[in-house]
Amino acid sequence: MSVRTVLVQGDITEQDVDAVVNAANSSLLGGGGVDGAIHRRGGPEILAACRELRAGHYGKGLSTGRAVATTAGRLPARHVIHTVGPRWSSTEDRSDLLASCYRESLRVAEDLGARTVAFPAISTGIYGWPLEDGARIAVATVRAARTSAVEEVRFVVFDERAREAFARQLDAQA
Ligand code: AR6
Repeated sequence: MSVRTVLVQGDITEQDVDAVVNAANSSLLGGGGVDGAIHRRGGPEILAACRELRAGHYGKGLSTGRAVATTAGRLPARHVIHTVGPRWSSTEDRSDLLASCYRESLRVAEDLGARTVAFPAISTGIYGWPLEDGARIAVATVRAARTSAVEEVRFVVFDERAREAFARQLDAQA
């Protein structure tokens, strides 16, 4: 089954979905942007779960393009799926790594039995990925995914410019 895609302008931490995807970094120990907001609103339980992951299988951190789940703490969501987007590079094409974030996060969501998943525009903030191209990769990858548990993917964007970019891509790739 292919997923239904929905576009929402707002704060990803407020989404009432089964799983929220975090635009994390490989340390899994927090940062700014979406990552900072999720840890702030979700409370210390999320960081404690991340520390456990670092003490176990993820001693060296989470690689770019991979995804792993923790509790969502006090967020309305049940799970946070942490993924590490690539930093934008003008000399190297890292699109496959960005696509991998969406694919791997959906795979983890499937394993969790999540029916609704909220994604931020991964890598388009602090990591500097051009918004339109980030939206293009996000929409193409999610549209190509075949899922059984996940029914709805919600792209949650912060501002009007991002909303327009995602709306254009959802339209162009319909
Ligand atoms: N809800 C929805 N979207 C948001 C929110 C929010 N609360 N806050 C920001 N955005 P970013 P990245 C948008 O920087 O580029 C952290 O330090 C934002 O406008 O959160 O993948 C991590 O620890 C942008 O369009 O993630 C990493 O070190 C998009 O979300 C690094 O930043 C992603 O911006 C990851 O950078």
